[in-house]
Parts: sequence; C-alpha cells; structure tokens
Amino acid sequence: MSTVVLIGAQWGDEGKGKVTDFLAEKADLVVRYQGGNNAGHTVVVGDREFKLHLIPSGILYPGKICIIGSGVVIDPEVLIKELESLQRRGINTENLRISQRAHVIFPYHRLLDQVEEGRKGENKIGTTCRGIGPAYMDKSARVGIRMVDLVDREVFAGLLERNMEGKNHLLTKVYDSDALDLNSVLGAYASYAETLKKYLADVSIIINDATKQGKNVLFEGAQGTLLDLDHGTYPYVTSSHPTAGAACLGAGIGPTRIDRVIGVAKAYTTRVGEGPFPTELNDDVGTFIQNRGGEFGTTTGRPRRCGWFDGVVGRYAVRINGLDYLAITKLDVLSGLEKVKICTSYRYRGELMEEFPASLRVLKECVPVYEELPGWQEDVSGARSLEDLPSAARKYLERIEEISGAPIALVGVGSRRSQTILTASLYA
Ligand code: IMP
Repeated sequence: MSTVVLIGAQWGDEGKGKVTDFLAEKADLVVRYQGGNNAGHTVVVGDREFKLHLIPSGILYPGKICIIGSGVVIDPEVLIKELESLQRRGINTENLRISQRAHVIFPYHRLLDQVEEGRKGENKIGTTCRGIGPAYMDKSARVGIRMVDLVDREVFAGLLERNMEGKNHLLTKVYDSDALDLNSVLGAYASYAETLKKYLADVSIIINDATKQGKNVLFEGAQGTLLDLDHGTYPYVTSSHPTAGAACLGAGIGPTRIDRVIGVAKAYTTRVGEGPFPTELNDDVGTFIQNRGGEFGTTTGRPRRCGWFDGVVGRYAVRINGLDYLAITKLDVLSGLEKVKICTSYRYRGELMEEFPASLRVLKECVPVYEELPGWQEDVSGARSLEDLPSAARKYLERIEEISGAPIALVGVGSRRSQTILTASLYA
C-alpha cells in the first residue's frame, strides 16, 4: 500500500491535473485537501477534454472513491454544475464523498472578494474572485458555515441570517455596495443542500480505513508551494496551504500515514495574478512559451506570465514539502529554442543568494543568475523513455534534478496520458 501526496512546486498551474490523472489510474482513493474552485485541472482522456475545479480527477476512472476533504472550501453551485456536466458526459459520480467539515462559499464571499480587490486598486492580489479568501477568513474567524451545517435545517437558516446581517452591513456601509437578499440566498442554498447531502461523509474515517487496508491513496494538492499562505510569496498567495503538510490537516489523517511526496513543476515557470516573479520573461521567448504552452488560465482565462525554470524555487519546494521526487511537465513546449536557461541562484545587491527570501522587497530586487544550456530542435512529444529524448533535453533534466535537489520520477511531453516518461515508481 502507498499514500502519495502530489503538490505544485511553483506558483500553481504546473500540470498537476495530468500527473494526478496518471497516478489516479492505480489509486483506490483520490483526495482533494485544500483550496476550492480557484483551482482548475485540465485532463485529456482519449480525445475528450475535461476541466475540473473541485472534483478530484479520479472521478474519470470507474470505481475510484473521490473525496473532497475538510480543508477545501466548497461553492455548492459550482460543485453541482461540475457534477451535472460530468453526468451529462456519461461519468458516474456516485463515488464522490464530501467532508461534513468542509466550509461553504456563499455569494457574499464572492462579492467581498471582488470589492476588496477593487478597493486595493494597484495593490490588488489578482485573486480569482471566487470568494476563496473571504471563506477562509470566516473559517478562521469561527463564523464559517460547514457542509454539515448547510444540510441541517435546524441550524442553517439561523447561521446564515446571523452571517448575512454582518456581511450586508460590511458591503453597504464599508464598500458602498448593494446588500444581498437573505431569502434568495436561503432558498438557493436549501436546494443545493438537498442535492449534495447524499455525498456527505466523515471522510477522515474512509481515508484512515483505506490506509489500514493497504489501499493506494492519492492526495491531490491544488495551486502551488509559492501560493501557500505560510510559505508562499505573501501577501500574493492564496488563503489555504497548497504544501504537502496540509494534506494531513485537510484530509484528517496523521503524518505517519504519508509514504511519498511528489512535486510537480513545469519545465519552465508560470504565474497568474500579481506578485514578484524573478525569472519572468517579457520578451519573445516569454511569448513563445506562452503560445506554445497554451498558458492561459483554466479558471479565469487570464494569460499566464512565463519565465525560465527557477532552481531557487525548486530547492525551496523540495525543502518545504520534503519532496521525494519531482515530476516535470511540458518539456515539449521548449523544443525549438536555441538556448535554454535555468536560474541557479539570485543576486541581491551584489551578493549571491542560494535560498528563497521571505521578504518581498528583497525578492523584487533579486536578479536571477542563469546557467545557459543548448536547446533542442526535435519534437519530443513522441518520447516514451529518457533514451528517446535528444541529449540536450536529457542534460536539461539532469541539471534540474541537481540544482533542485530531488530526482525526477516523471516527465510530461504532451497533454495526453500516454505522453509521459516514467523514470521511477510513483507509489512506494
Ligand atoms: P485566490 O486563491 O482566488 O484568493 O487568489 C490568490 C492568488 O492565487 C492569485 O494570484 C491567483 O491567481 C492565485 N491562484 C489561485 N488559484 C490558482 C491556481 O489554481 N493556479 C494558479 N494560481 C492560482
């Protein structure tokens, strides 16, 4: 048996959906443990493309139990649309289980996310405006409403009334925005509760039992290490913990239950939203990568900022998550470049810096120090083993391993499941 935590090792959008989907084939359980519908996974199965925001991609395989853990914030309207869209395409969703303890996103969370971003103006975070931050704020402030409360007729209306009174005050008096109507929110959410209640469970029991029975469990992280509330480029982060440690909290298991941690990184770097990005390329190479890699957000459609692979970020992700392996995606995108570069350290006010700094002011001033390697012209999308790759591409991967400090277990060379090079066993 083996439990694997799969996380993003950069700023999100590393292609985790494809690697998760690949791993899900052998998993008995697939668990989402943090974030919400700010995430977006594109999974290609045969000639069908699926875009998933909340439901673990294991749902695409018959018989897998898919779990939304207590660390996730759930927009029920979005979840129901996602369920219906899968069902319309013939996917069986009966194996979905939702934690009773997961918190619920309400329309006031979405609205507060938008008006707060508007108020910040130039200093905005560039959130997905899905209400994620405000929902986690309510959770921490101990006024959040959980799935178990949503489906409980005896408590839900009272909790919502109490919350909406406060939120409407905030919206109208502080943000000069319109108030929301209690009865329409109450009606809509009562109907969502009816649809979703059959999926609710104490998921910690299901996951712990599975580990005891020797089943394969995959914990699927959303976003990436540098968007982590504690360890990311604060305040340009999300409001949850995309790092590996959060799998325990967000699923309801202990650290002794985790066997392996794998970090997914693109063969280059991308970022959406605001915030410093040392290896960003504002030139033709950046545009080449953006177009070749289709670097436009799954959730918001925003163009992603693109840059070279950052080995300082790689080392940081290896340390913060205790990575056993890296999975490198989208190697095929770099074919055709004359030279490729890897950032090995930063230069800050004349001094070399090997480790990722905590201060954003310092990070903004960091200049990447690059190692330049020969590029490769060949199309690598048909490669199925390392030997199939041009030697320059192999050398590039070797340097990523050496600079980041973790071996590579998987290389993605295209969006299809089959376009994968496996170099180590992913389940322990
Ligand atoms: P929020 O999670 O919507 O609050 O957004 C906070 C920051 O995280 C913004 O910079 C978003 O662009 C970024 N973000 C949130 N989810 C994702 C994701 O799935 N991929 C990449 N960036 C994300």
